[in-house]
This record gives sequence, structure tokens and C-alpha cells, in this order.
Amino acid sequence: MKLENLKILSKEMIDQLNKIGVFSVERLAICSVKELAEALGLSEEKVEDILIEAWRETGHWFMQATEYSENIKEVVLTTGCKALDELLGGGVRTKRITEFIGEYRVGKTQTALTILIEALGRESDVYAIYMDSERGFNESRIMEIAKNRGYDGEDILQRVSLVPVVSCDNMLKGLKWVDHVLVDRKARLLIVDSVVSPFRSEYVGREKLAERQQLLGTALDQMAKIAEAYNIAVIATNQVVARPEHTYSYDPLASVTPAGGHVLAHRSQERVHLRKGRGEIRIARLIDSSWLPPGECMFRITER
Ligand SMILES: Nc1ncnc2c1ncn2[C@@H]1O[C@H](COP(=O)(O)OP(=O)(O)OP(=O)(O)O)[C@@H](O)[C@H]1O
Ligand SMILES: [Mg+2]
Repeated sequence: MKLENLKILSKEMIDQLNKIGVFSVERLAICSVKELAEALGLSEEKVEDILIEAWRETGHWFMQATEYSENIKEVVLTTGCKALDELLGGGVRTKRITEFIGEYRVGKTQTALTILIEALGRESDVYAIYMDSERGFNESRIMEIAKNRGYDGEDILQRVSLVPVVSCDNMLKGLKWVDHVLVDRKARLLIVDSVVSPFRSEYVGREKLAERQQLLGTALDQMAKIAEAYNIAVIATNQVVARPEHTYSYDPLASVTPAGGHVLAHRSQERVHLRKGRGEIRIARLIDSSWLPPGECMFRITER
């Protein structure tokens, strides 16, 4: 929703907001009082009035509980894989961060691409943002998967905004500026592949760990707010790291742990660990969910 829809905002205020990356009421609703007071040069009381208007418009202010579910319903997106959908209670959900975790070549990027293709293939008017810090975004692979699933790959690519991430700052600024591509568009997905790797490569060593986790927390905070404000599904991929304290166990997951520590664990609503089986077989385990029971399923990575 355009800022012009908020009567409380003057033309000058809208210009100031645009300068800090705020183009829509949805984005305005997730700004802090402090950030807005600074950008607009207004008192905190004035800014609060503006925010309440924004929250009211976007369904984040007091309303009848019955209205709530009607107004801002979450949407379930298929993963394109029946077994994985069942594990996830139907698929990945908007307003939430779903994390796919696993070692290299296990299928995290392929899963994210398939979710993207299914979401944009099924609905002809929706958009997605893909932040790629691994160079996993491959046009010809998208064309191939789309074709095999009966969708127009070219048309899907037209509706993807790609950010090939080169640094942490690049990712953080990208998250801050999503609004200029989302304003007045119906977005369904934000994919961040991978979320931790820029932070791991830039902040190396124990002495930088606190700073790294703090920045990662900022990125995740933005992602969570974006999911909520725009009613979109955030898909994050993540690697695993070896667990030094691990002793032998029958559980194949006991020797590894997702990168990113507690910061990420607290932020992802659904965490799916992928591991390799024989050949193309992959095993997905739902390791953490706020509402689903833990479980496992098997799937295959194919040309589809
Ligand atoms: N066109 C294709 N047809 C069939 N399988 C493919 C195709 N392209 C890639 N794959 C398979 O997908 C797997 C790689 O998956 P993917 O790139 O999603 O891994 P990843 O978990 O993202 O790894 P990384 O951590 O290295 O980014 C490989 O096993 C590869 O064989
Ligand atoms: Mg990948």
C-alpha cells in the first residue's frame, strides 16, 4: 500500500521516508519510533501517531479477533514435493521463516528454487526476492525445473528480483531496501541463500563472534519483520558445522549442528535438516517447529 494512502503523511514526510527506504505502509509499520523520529525530524509522540495509522492499515492494531484471521490470513506454499509438504503441514507458510539446513550439495538451493517456481508458477501476479550469497541462482536450472513442471520459466524470471550478495553490508542494506521493489506488488517469497555464510566469512575467529552474532541477529530481525509486514514466506538456507563435543551416536544428526547458533535457532519457526541418502535420495527431518511434531521424510532430487 502506497504511503499516499495515509492521510497523516505530508508530501514532505513521504519524501523523507523514501530517503530511508520506506515506500509502503507495510514497511513503515515495521520502522521503530526512534528511526522515524530521526528521519522525519519529529517528536516521538508525533511519530507514534503516524505509526498507529500504519499499524491500523496493515492489521497490526487492536481489532476483533474474528476479523484478524479474515484480514491477514497466512498463505501456505507448496515445496513441490508431496512428502516434504506433509512433513511441513502442507508446505512453507507466509509470515514465518522456514530454514533448510544441511551440508553442501544436499539440495537446499534446489528446494528453494522449486518453492520459488511453484509459488510464481501457480499465481501469475506474485513476486519474489532472491538474495543469493552462494551463486546458486541459476537461470537455466530455473528454466529447466519450470518447464518440467509445466510453467513458463521466462515469465517466472520476470517476477524475481535478484540480489547477488557480496558482503554482510550488502545483505543488510538489501533487506533494508526491499520495499522499493515490494511497494504495490504482491510478494509471496523472500529467499536468502545462504543466510549465515557472509557473516561466517567476514567475521572469523572467536573474538569476532559476538559482533557477528549481533549483525546476524539484525539481519534475522529484518527478515522476520518483512515476513510479517508483507505476509510473505521467508526461506533461509544454512550450513551445518561439526559438533566438537559429540560422541558416537546412532543418530546421524548428532555429529553436526546448524551454523548461526541460538540467534538463528530462535528466529526460524520451522527448521528442516536435509541429509543425503543413497544416490539421489535425501532425508528431511523437521528438527524444530512451533506447532508441528518432529518427523522425517524421504525425497529425491531429480531434473524436476
Ligand atoms: N539439473 C539437475 N538435475 C538433477 N539433479 C540436479 C540438477 N542440478 C543439480 N542437481 C542436484 O542437486 C544437488 C545439489 O543441490 P543444491 O545445489 O541444492 O545443494 P545445496 O544444498 O544448495 O549445496 P551448497 O551448500 O553447496 O549450496 C546435487 O546433488 C545435484 O546433483
Ligand atoms: Mg546452495
